[in-house]
Amino acid sequence: MVPLKRRKVVSSNVGNIKTGAENKFPQVVLFLLERKMGASRRAFLSQLGQKKGFQVEEVFSESVTHVVSENNSGDEVRTWLDSQGGGRGRTPVHLLDISWYTESMQAGRPVQILDRHKLQEQQTDGAELVVFSVPSYACQRRTTLENHNTVLTDALSLLAENAELSDQEGRGVAFRRAAAVLKALPGSVTHVTQLRGLPCLGEHSMRVIKDILENGASAEVESTKQSERYKALKVLTGIFGVGAKTAERWIREGIHTLHQLRGSGHTLNRAQQAGLQHYDDLNRPVTKAEADAIREVVERAVVSVLPGAQVTLTGGFRRGKLTGHDVDFLITHPEEGREDGLMSKVVSWLESQGFLLYQKTTRNSYLESKDGPARPSSNMDRFERCFSIFKLDKDERRGTNAAEDTSSVGAHVQVKDEDSGSQSPILRDEQRRHVSAEDGGPEETKLWRAVRVDLVVSPISQFAFALLGWTGSKLFERELRRWAGHEKNMSLSSHALYDSKQGRYLRVTSEEEIFAHLGLEFVPPSERNA
Ligand code: CTP
Ligand code: MN
Ligand code: MN
Repeated sequence: MVPLKRRKVVSSNVGNIKTGAENKFPQVVLFLLERKMGASRRAFLSQLGQKKGFQVEEVFSESVTHVVSENNSGDEVRTWLDSQGGGRGRTPVHLLDISWYTESMQAGRPVQILDRHKLQEQQTDGAELVVFSVPSYACQRRTTLENHNTVLTDALSLLAENAELSDQEGRGVAFRRAAAVLKALPGSVTHVTQLRGLPCLGEHSMRVIKDILENGASAEVESTKQSERYKALKVLTGIFGVGAKTAERWIREGIHTLHQLRGSGHTLNRAQQAGLQHYDDLNRPVTKAEADAIREVVERAVVSVLPGAQVTLTGGFRRGKLTGHDVDFLITHPEEGREDGLMSKVVSWLESQGFLLYQKTTRNSYLESKDGPARPSSNMDRFERCFSIFKLDKDERRGTNAAEDTSSVGAHVQVKDEDSGSQSPILRDEQRRHVSAEDGGPEETKLWRAVRVDLVVSPISQFAFALLGWTGSKLFERELRRWAGHEKNMSLSSHALYDSKQGRYLRVTSEEEIFAHLGLEFVPPSERNA
């Protein structure tokens, strides 16, 4: 019996260090077995592969996905592998004959693995592989950050993202659900038969998974990744304030890059201007240390304007992620009503101290109707909230003296992308100020960075719902709401839980109680990474 394979999948951007050649096929890590092949032929073939952009490893390791041998039987290779100390639990995905390698060299890419390429082993029956099983809703599963199937989930997430950016929400959700199922598996998938009976794996997702398992890559994923449209959507929606619809419209006008956007004469709104101005910073992941520094600032602001108010870190960082695209905070006060008007005071404080490069605050518009929530209940919650861009000092002061140099907010803004000198009417303001990398304002001399921060204020009576709703992941939240509606005839939002059968709102003071009302086992934040 072939046991569950726990081999950690290779990181997709391992370069080919030895030859310096570009690693064109990140999902394929090759190892040529010297046994019966001989050292010199092995060296020759390895170099040939590396020149063609393949990653061919000198030494066998767990990262190897394809073992290639000449004149060995499957069992001989298996015995050799076992002797490498890994044992059967760490076997690579493919044991292949040299014919697969030489054909791949000729093709200049990993060719599809056919039966004749595979070394025959005693038993690799699907029936003998571990078959995984998971419950269908992501909120019934525990999904940690330890993902044994990153190659597959990255591929499916890319297709999900592409669908979402193309106004195909349904497709996007289907790919997200499929990826989430694979994230929850306790080991690496090596064969499609292991997925038999798993939920949420539709025909399309299965085709992608099969392609990757059998050929090392999915043509659809690779061509999407390379497509001009996808690349342009990524660049343009990478601007804070630019959604899929706007990006789509620009692309139809032939705008694919920031340079072209700047030259287009389009009028950008305030958010988009800030997004463009801080493009590089906002597209660089925020670290946990930076999140903690911002938390200190937010706490200082909150206690200054309302002693006793509490700040909670939510979003990805609450789930234990080490980086994020922004930092999310939930603010409340233990006495109901005291939080009223808090946001504008916090924002004024932050602004007066020079911490904000941009902010947009929206009012609380939540009203509980005695007939229950409106249908379809919107995904968007209605808390008082602030989408902002913080100016975070890079040195140890961590922003403590930011008030001293408020004049510098926006004064030495740098826009470090391909275009630093265009004469676009949309950015005349920015141009007066900005210093490009070439102008002698290199990144290292910049003493601060821009960070996206979301602030939300909730009354204490809704705090548990807000906390649950703002901790994510997005798919976990979506699944919770789907579970509530479809399985429990309830309606869950970031404000409340309404039981349609009983015709009343269910009050709670903790996340645990919400899970209990929903008939779900409590899932801690670190296990909501679906
Ligand atoms: N959220 C929301 N309404 C929004 C935006 C976000 O309710 N308009 C919720 C999302 O459902 C999610 C949480 O806020 O649960 C955090 O969203 P976001 O910051 O986008 O994602 P993270 O999981 O924090 O990921 P990242 O680390 O990349 O920021
Ligand atoms: Mn976040
Ligand atoms: Mn956020």
